[in-house]
Amino acid sequence: MKLLVVGSGGREHALSWSLAKSRRVSKVYIAPGNGGTHNQEKLEAVSLSDPHELAKFAAEQNIAYTVVGPEAPLAAGIVDIFRQNGLKIFGPTKAAAQLESSKDFAKEFMVRHGIPTANHKTFNNPDEAKKYVSKQGAPIVVKADGLAAGKGVIVAETVEQAHAAINDMLGEGKFGSAGARVVIEEFLDGEEVSFIVMCDGKNILPMASSQDHKRLLDQDKGPNTGGMGAYSPAPLVSEHMHKRIMQEVIQPTINGMHTDGIPFSGFLYAGLMVQPGDDKTRPIKVLEYNCRMGDPEAQPIVMRIKNDMAVVFESAVNGNLSPNAIEWDPRTALGVVIAAYGYPDNVRTGDAITKLASNSDNCVTFHAGTTIKDGVLQTSGGRVLCVTALADTVQEAQAIAYKAVSQTEFDGMQYRKDIAWRALTN
Ligand code: AMP
Ligand code: GLY
Repeated sequence: MKLLVVGSGGREHALSWSLAKSRRVSKVYIAPGNGGTHNQEKLEAVSLSDPHELAKFAAEQNIAYTVVGPEAPLAAGIVDIFRQNGLKIFGPTKAAAQLESSKDFAKEFMVRHGIPTANHKTFNNPDEAKKYVSKQGAPIVVKADGLAAGKGVIVAETVEQAHAAINDMLGEGKFGSAGARVVIEEFLDGEEVSFIVMCDGKNILPMASSQDHKRLLDQDKGPNTGGMGAYSPAPLVSEHMHKRIMQEVIQPTINGMHTDGIPFSGFLYAGLMVQPGDDKTRPIKVLEYNCRMGDPEAQPIVMRIKNDMAVVFESAVNGNLSPNAIEWDPRTALGVVIAAYGYPDNVRTGDAITKLASNSDNCVTFHAGTTIKDGVLQTSGGRVLCVTALADTVQEAQAIAYKAVSQTEFDGMQYRKDIAWRALTN
């Protein structure tokens, strides 16, 4: 069968890399793909991104099903368009994708269904928002309601910082319509975990646990980014914690969407804050939902899948996903993101990538912000590559990944040297 993957990031490269390994798959088209999505047998990039054109392509090419990577096409209704045309696609509808595309929708949903999350209030009037912040005190969190490419959350350490964020969003319109409403939220202390599941509307298949590194610099310093590296499994998610997350967060979310008449299919990503305490009692609270896999969490997670993902997705689009359909490699996978000069604020593109490590069974360089121009592989985005290694221990995975990083070269490359540090200190 022929498949289509929509997106151009490291997550989509990893998904199509995995799907192309299936013996049942003759071709994986990736739209639009990146500078690394043509190097594998059976992978082919197609330069399309409009959902209607993609649906036309899928129909003409007799694509068995489509997998959508990023949130933007999901929030724009690509799943609705494909389904209206009788095409199979894995992802949430536009209505269900509101779990990610509107923070206010997500918060109201959680309150309605008793899903644990930080206390909040939503505002569209800057003076009222500021008054509320002054009353609550700092630290406090200010979030743009809509999609803001990972930049719409300000964890304010002072009331003044929170006021400035409110001015940016509600006063100056710095985030456009995404910031026309703000959610103000109680600050939560604890350790973050990404918990991702696949869902076909009713059946749930949990992915292996993972942890992202959101800050730019070592020791979790510097500005927030889309993610500078990730690893799987996350030791924090013990068997007991896994059960609790399923019972307290995931199952009520899927049930709640069903009750509200907008069943969720696709990847559901719960960004969780696990607060201090012991495994039985420590509070687990939802920071955010995403309606897709995480990037870079997907890269290590996908490296740990031992069986045929094409079959797993096929059962999901047909509504008979089995909760145990994935066989996980017990080893640790770890991905180090290599970002461009100036990331995350002023990304420089167009740097030639002069060296890349060779891929092997236990180390793969997934591409993200890369393109080929005049025959030269060069940077084209903030997060350029994700070097992902698989090994028996966290230390070995680090050693393999960082060796491959040292064999990679482009001007201005920056990366963290401490990916998975929490796994070594827990
Ligand atoms: P979000 O996009 O909502 O996950 O927010 C981005 C990042 O901001 C999260 O990964 C956390 O590091 C931080 N964050 C969000 N909400 C809170 C909160 N209520 N308390 C503390 N940190 C938060
Ligand atoms: N790595 C976090 C995200 O994909 O949202």
